[in-house]
Amino acid sequence: MLFPNSHFEQAETQIEQILTLIGVQPEMVLDLACGPGRHVLPLAKQGFSVTGVDASAYLLGLLQAELNQFSIPPRVELFQADMRDFKRNAEFDLILCLWTSFGCFEHGADDQRVLENVCASLREGGRFLLDVVGKEYIVHNFEPISARELDHSDVLIEQHELLDYMSRMNSRWTLVSGNRIHRASFSLNIYSAVELQDRLFAAGFSSVQIFGDLEGREYDLDADRLILLAGK
Ligand SMILES: C[S@@+](CC[C@H](N)C(=O)[O-])C[C@H]1O[C@@H](n2cnc3c(N)ncnc32)[C@H](O)[C@@H]1O
Repeated sequence: MLFPNSHFEQAETQIEQILTLIGVQPEMVLDLACGPGRHVLPLAKQGFSVTGVDASAYLLGLLQAELNQFSIPPRVELFQADMRDFKRNAEFDLILCLWTSFGCFEHGADDQRVLENVCASLREGGRFLLDVVGKEYIVHNFEPISARELDHSDVLIEQHELLDYMSRMNSRWTLVSGNRIHRASFSLNIYSAVELQDRLFAAGFSSVQIFGDLEGREYDLDADRLILLAGK
C-alpha cells in the first residue's frame, strides 16, 4: 500500500502545520493531485470547503468512500482532471500541491502551465503551497537503489537514475507485499528552490517564500523537503 495509514495520520499534522504557516483561515481550499485525500479528509473534518482534483478515478473513488462515512455531509467537491487542464476563475484562497505531485510531465512547459492555472484559480491575496523534494537534496543524497519497510512488513525498493543534466529523475518502485509484487515507474522533473521560485514569479505570483519543512524551518542542506509558499 503506497498510502499507508501512518501517512494519513501524518497528513492531519501537516494540515495543522500548513494552517499555522499561512497564518489565516482559508474559506475555499483546492488540493491539486489530492490522491486518496490524505489532506482533503482533515480539511473537510474541520469544516472547510474543499475541492479535490486528481487524475486517478481509482484514488478519487477511495476518497469518496471515506467522505460517504461522514455523519454531516462535508463541503467537498471532487473532480477527475489533469492538472494541466484544471483551472477556475479566482475561486480559491488556498491551493495545495503536496507530496511531490508537481513535475511529472515530460515537458517543463506543462509544469509551467500548471503553475499558471494555479495562479489564475486563486483569489487576489490567495496562497499556493507547493511541497516537493528539491534538486539540492536529491543530488546531495542520491542513491541509485534503496529499500525501506512500510506498514505490515511491506518492503518498498526504489531505483533511481538522473537524466538530462540532473533536471529529471526516473524512478522504479517495487513493492513487496507478502508474496505479491507490485511495480510502478515514473519520471519527475526536479527543480532547485531558485528554479521553482523563478517559475512561480513567471506564472504571475507576486511573492514567494521558501522553507525546508511545513514548520517553516530554513531550506538548507539538512532539509529533506522543499516548501514554496507563493502569494498572488
Ligand atoms: C505522490 S501522489 C500525492 C497525493 C496527495 N497529494 C498526497 O499527499 O497524498 C501524486 C498524485 O498525483 C496524481 N497525478 C499524477 N498526474 C496527475 C495529473 N496530470 N493531473 C492530476 N493529478 C495527477 C496521482 O494520481 C497521485 O494521486
